[in-house]
Amino acid sequence: MRIDKLHIILLVCVLTLLGYIVIRSTQQNNNSTVITNDSLAKWKLPNLRDVNIATDSGKMIIHGNNILTFTSRYVGPLAKNPELRYAGNNLSCSNCHFNGGRERKTLNLVGVTKRYPKYIERLKDTLNIVQRVNGCFMRSLNGRPLPEDSYEMKSILAYLNFISEYIPDHKMVEYQGIEKIPPFNGTLDTAIGKVMYSIKCMSCHGSDGVGAPNNLVENPEGMYYIVPPIAGKDSFNKGAGMSILEEAATFIYHEMPYNNRGSLTVEEAYQIANYVVSLPRPDYNLSKK
Ligand code: HEC
Ligand code: HEC
Repeated sequence: MRIDKLHIILLVCVLTLLGYIVIRSTQQNNNSTVITNDSLAKWKLPNLRDVNIATDSGKMIIHGNNILTFTSRYVGPLAKNPELRYAGNNLSCSNCHFNGGRERKTLNLVGVTKRYPKYIERLKDTLNIVQRVNGCFMRSLNGRPLPEDSYEMKSILAYLNFISEYIPDHKMVEYQGIEKIPPFNGTLDTAIGKVMYSIKCMSCHGSDGVGAPNNLVENPEGMYYIVPPIAGKDSFNKGAGMSILEEAATFIYHEMPYNNRGSLTVEEAYQIANYVVSLPRPDYNLSKK
């Protein structure tokens, strides 16, 4: 084969390009994997503004955050592609995992990918993170599980990894999820719970608990609900964590009323939770995992 000047120039170009790609990729690896004691001490919750959306992994992180925030539109009843309608109701993950799970304490998801696989007492089974996310899809969102290799599940994991990956152990304490509350030993009565609900919750969640939808015509970029439902056919189903008295009471005690958090007594939280879990909502086949 005759090697002329053009071939040599082409070869040099290809080699330079390859060299550049190799150097870029090792630099990127170094940037993201080198952890010093100093950087551990300074760990801060990763900021979505720092995500490089020019990369595929950056795009997935942002997509994952959108799925948690605008669940209905991306993977629920409002999704344009019917195959992507995994969620059966119009709740957003963020309605329970505030701010995409980035808020301290609460039902936060920071560090969650490091806490799984995890043994779940209630199910007497060890779940990996995909199964755990799908647990919320089937129960809290009253839908069906996402395939592990779908772009949507991979994006959710990319996002959860982004907010979890480099969290040092001593920071896990701060983000380790919602704090337990003491048990309530008095008598639970839905009539008492209903009265307390009408005083503390009804102004936002409504008399029948079906919440308040957003005006998506005026605000097409918004979440489906301004105030999410806590009852009715568009609410979490009977298999959801929020349908368990203790979990609902814990959430309500710490997080509600939304505009006056931390104002309820343990008794009020239990009485109201007892009323909320008694309200009509979709069934769930409890033998399903
Ligand atoms: C109706 C409220 C609700 C909605 C909506 C919801 N979740 Fe959850 N989620 C919960 C509750 C309650 C728990 C149990 C928390 C616990 O066990 O401490 C939980 C637990 C989790 C966990 C495990 C957390 C841990 O630390 O073990 C993950 C991951 C999770 N949810 C992801 C999601 C995702 C992703 C979505 C949206 C696709 C979603 N959830 C929607 C209420 C909800
Ligand atoms: C000021 C309005 C307001 C009041 C009062 C209020 N909430 Fe909420 N609630 C909200 C909003 C808004 C969200 C969703 C927050 C988000 O998406 O960040 C929410 C979320 C919830 C959720 C989880 C999501 C869902 O729909 O299942 C439950 C459960 C809940 N509230 C119960 C209660 C209870 C019980 C009370 C009374 C003790 C109460 N709320 C009082 C506004 C309110």
